[in-house]
Amino acid sequence: RQGLIIAIDGPSGAGKSTITKRLADRLGYVHIDTGAMFRAVALAAKRAGVDTTDDESLVRLCGGIEIDFLRNNGCCRVIVNGEDVTEAIRTPEISALTSAISARKVVRDFLLVLQRRMGNAGGVILEGRDIGTVVFPNADVKFYLSASVEERGRRRWLELKAKGENVTLEDTITAVAQRDKQDSGREHAPLRRADDAIDIDSTGLSIDEVIALMEEVV
Ligand code: C5P
Repeated sequence: RQGLIIAIDGPSGAGKSTITKRLADRLGYVHIDTGAMFRAVALAAKRAGVDTTDDESLVRLCGGIEIDFLRNNGCCRVIVNGEDVTEAIRTPEISALTSAISARKVVRDFLLVLQRRMGNAGGVILEGRDIGTVVFPNADVKFYLSASVEERGRRRWLELKAKGENVTLEDTITAVAQRDKQDSGREHAPLRRADDAIDIDSTGLSIDEVIALMEEVV
């Protein structure tokens, strides 16, 4: 293997993406954003008018999707069938749709194969909800990164505002709590801390402090 397999799981807004990106840069590892993969499927489903409960159409849809991460020129543009969808997959509407679509086993099975293929060689950090429990239960290092729901809602709200989205703090916290509930309550690969994961609560910690903690462990 070319390096370790590192898993970072946790609820939305805990800082996974920012932290994974920076940690991957420092270690010279590849960053795999599995949430972006679920988002890409959700966007494709919306455009094709496929219902999130229609498994047969979802299978067909997945069969026609090719997901790539473009890694030059700053990290990680998300490319689906040749189109750059990096921004399009991050709207509140697609976030909510992604949570519904990621509950479908047919979608999870499709992405599981891709995720293992991308990570198998090592030298990778995968971030998501079920990396340490399902995708790579034998990962060398597992982190479970969380923060209070208010803190996570506040961070997401600042992000959305910076992008010019017109949302209130209260609605954003409610949406984050709703997504927590869906992600933890679903039948297939729910959000769960792996028994052997190292807990990091990022409430009140800076990004640099979290990265320093992780680097020490790695
Ligand atoms: O991490 P991010 O917020 O981009 O993930 C979007 C959604 O994708 C999550 O709310 C969750 O429903 C789903 N997801 C998942 N399993 C993963 C990563 C993301 O179910 N490994």
